[in-house]
Amino acid sequence: MGTSGSVLQDASMDIESQGAERPTHNYEGALMAKHGDDTEIKAMIARPGSTNGQLFEVDILFPKVLEGTVDTWGIDEGMAHLLTGLVRALKPQIVFETGTHRGRSTRAIAEGLVANKFGHLWTVDPKDYGLMSSGAIREEEKEFVTQVIGSTPDVFGEEPLIDLQGIEMAFLDGAHDGEGLSRDLEYVDAHRADECLVFVDNARDGGWPEIERLFDAYETYPHLSFPTLSGTEIVQMCKKGKLKHSHEYHTI
Ligand SMILES: C[S@@+](CC[C@H](N)C(=O)[O-])C[C@H]1O[C@@H](n2cnc3c(N)ncnc32)[C@H](O)[C@@H]1O
Repeated sequence: MGTSGSVLQDASMDIESQGAERPTHNYEGALMAKHGDDTEIKAMIARPGSTNGQLFEVDILFPKVLEGTVDTWGIDEGMAHLLTGLVRALKPQIVFETGTHRGRSTRAIAEGLVANKFGHLWTVDPKDYGLMSSGAIREEEKEFVTQVIGSTPDVFGEEPLIDLQGIEMAFLDGAHDGEGLSRDLEYVDAHRADECLVFVDNARDGGWPEIERLFDAYETYPHLSFPTLSGTEIVQMCKKGKLKHSHEYHTI
């Protein structure tokens, strides 16, 4: 494997000391690469010199290198924090996800459930990328997650999703075509709790124009678009009439 298309763009490494006893090391480096690039990365760290505090690069794995194919399909770390925080803030009993992939968003949701000490996530993907064996999900998170291998909408007619009821939060990152996403939204609507927040990835993404078009015309429930990495649409599914705590339901 080579380094085609990969550039170590920001090798500047920043070391912050937070108090004399526990220095924290914050290395900021970004590998600019396209999805699918083969890459070869050395494990460079900055070691502060003992004489003048200068930073010296040390390859801590020399002569080994990390080789692999770049996979940028996972959500970004900011979105991962957001998902974990949403789970902690909303305290859902039932969470539903499409597009497990390697499990970055699954892990983020599972971390929130573990922090809450209750709730369960059902996550669907046609391919098993090793969610339960790769380390994506840690031991203590596994009991909070059920992995379903299959493609939506086909899996909606099968166990366990055919009987799933009471979805309070959903993260949709599976089907990226208009028809497929519509079917996913319809499934969530038919299997949700009285109120359910649905987060849809790639809602402002030129690579998936049908998602933006779908929401341009979507009038079933109130929805908002946020300028995250690929755009996130948030749909507030609720009973028509009044929401709990007297917030008026209306279509934007
Ligand atoms: C962008 S990736 C998801 C990334 C993941 N959410 C993460 O943060 O790591 C999209 C995934 O959706 C899956 N997918 C595509 N069509 C699907 C469908 N109809 N039902 C479920 N998953 C689907 C693909 O196999 C792929 O793994």
